[in-house]
Parts: sequence; C-alpha cells; structure tokens
Amino acid sequence: MQIRVLDDAEAVGREAATIVCGAVRAKPAAALGLPTGATPLPMYRELGRRARDGSADFGEATGYAIDEFAGVPFYAPGTNAEFFRAHADMGLRALTVPDSGAPDPDAEVRALATAVEAGGGFDLCVLGIGANGHIAFNEPGSEVDTSARVVELTATSRRAHAAGFGGLARVPALGMTLGVADLVASRRLLVLATGAEKAAIVASAIEGPMRAEVPASWLQSHGLVLWLLDRPAAAAMRKTDA
Ligand code: GLP
Repeated sequence: MQIRVLDDAEAVGREAATIVCGAVRAKPAAALGLPTGATPLPMYRELGRRARDGSADFGEATGYAIDEFAGVPFYAPGTNAEFFRAHADMGLRALTVPDSGAPDPDAEVRALATAVEAGGGFDLCVLGIGANGHIAFNEPGSEVDTSARVVELTATSRRAHAAGFGGLARVPALGMTLGVADLVASRRLLVLATGAEKAAIVASAIEGPMRAEVPASWLQSHGLVLWLLDRPAAAAMRKTDA
C-alpha cells in the first residue's frame, strides 16, 4: 500500500484527478469504478475542468457506479444517479449506474457486476471511506469475499445521507453495492479520505488488522492501492511514508 498525505481536500482532489487522467491516457478505453460522497467532489470538479480545457479526454472511457440506494425512483434526489448527473461531467463514453427503482435490486446489482466483468474489470477503482469503515456500501461485517448484493444500510450511513434525501426518514433502508471482492479485483485502487472525522477510521483501516468490522482494511490485501489523504485525515496514523 502506498500512502500520500497532501495539504488539504483540494490538493487531494487535484492529485486524484491527475491519477485518473493518467490511467485514461495510458488506456483511453479504461473502465473506471467511481464513488459518490463529499470527498470526491474536488476530484470531479478538476476532472470536469480538465475535460473542458482539453487537457484530458474521457471520450472512450467508461465509468461504473460502485453502489446505489434501493427502493427509490431512478434519479430521485439523494441517489447516486443524481450525484453523477450533477458532478461527473467529464464526458465519459458511458456511465453505468444501477437503477435504484429496479423491482429486483438484487438482480440489478448483480447485472452491474456482470457488466464490469464483461468489460474486462476495472482498470482503476476510486473509493471513499465511510466514517464506519465502509467501502462502497460494504458495511461493517462485510467479508473479503463478498460479491455484489443488496445490503441493509447502517444508521451511520443513513444519517450521513439525511440531507440529500430531505430528512433521515426518507433515506432508503437498503443499498446495492459491488462486493469487497469486486472492488479488490480492480487492477488499481485509489482511496480518498479527507477531514478530521475520518482520521480514526483511516488509521484503523491502514494500520489495524484486516477484518470485516472495518471493510476498508481489506484493501491491505491488494498490491496496488494508493491512499490519498489530507493532513487532518492522516493525523491519527502512527507513521506515513509521506
Ligand atoms: C457513502 C458511499 C461511499 C462513500 C462514503 C463516504 O455512503 N456509499 O461510496 O465513499 O459514503 O462518503 P463521504 O465522502 O461523503 O464521507
């Protein structure tokens, strides 16, 4: 695992964008796993800027959402589909997001995993980390061999999305997620964490034992993982190589 500590969230966003652009320059038809949340917003802003000014071209690359809510209409406010519509404007050839309103969410998310596999797998998967250690919607308790599935969202995760859905009561109880095994199958992984509220879980994921209680700790089993942290998110680690 590689860990790079940068000054602030904007610097993390710029560096993340540089890495994504590098992957697409090396392989224009790259398949990218893409996260939602507040953390990657600076990265998406930068990717949009670079696409607009012509310094990057995503016209052959494909993106895939790594998770989505279930039980609400496709593109409802608060969904990942709506997030990508608003923020992922870098001109990807295609961006696949599972339908949060699908009548059979289990089949829907398995179809997502099948599509990723059929496309040759992720060349690069970008991840955030939940305050409880989740990656995509692999909540605490998720084993390293979990596959794409419907999950019950934890109270912590539902609270984190209350604003987007217009209140906690409106946050769906269920989510669809690629499994830990699907994420770890990516050829490269880029994990972003910013802010002091992620410091404890980042230290635990990077320096603690690999365990289902902290799903992000499973990333230690992958040879090509880069964590990009800002200083506050790195503050609880015993050591960094930065
Ligand atoms: C969400 C998403 C994750 C994301 C995480 C962190 O619930 N399912 O993919 O990485 O929580 O979000 P944030 O960056 O807003 O802290």
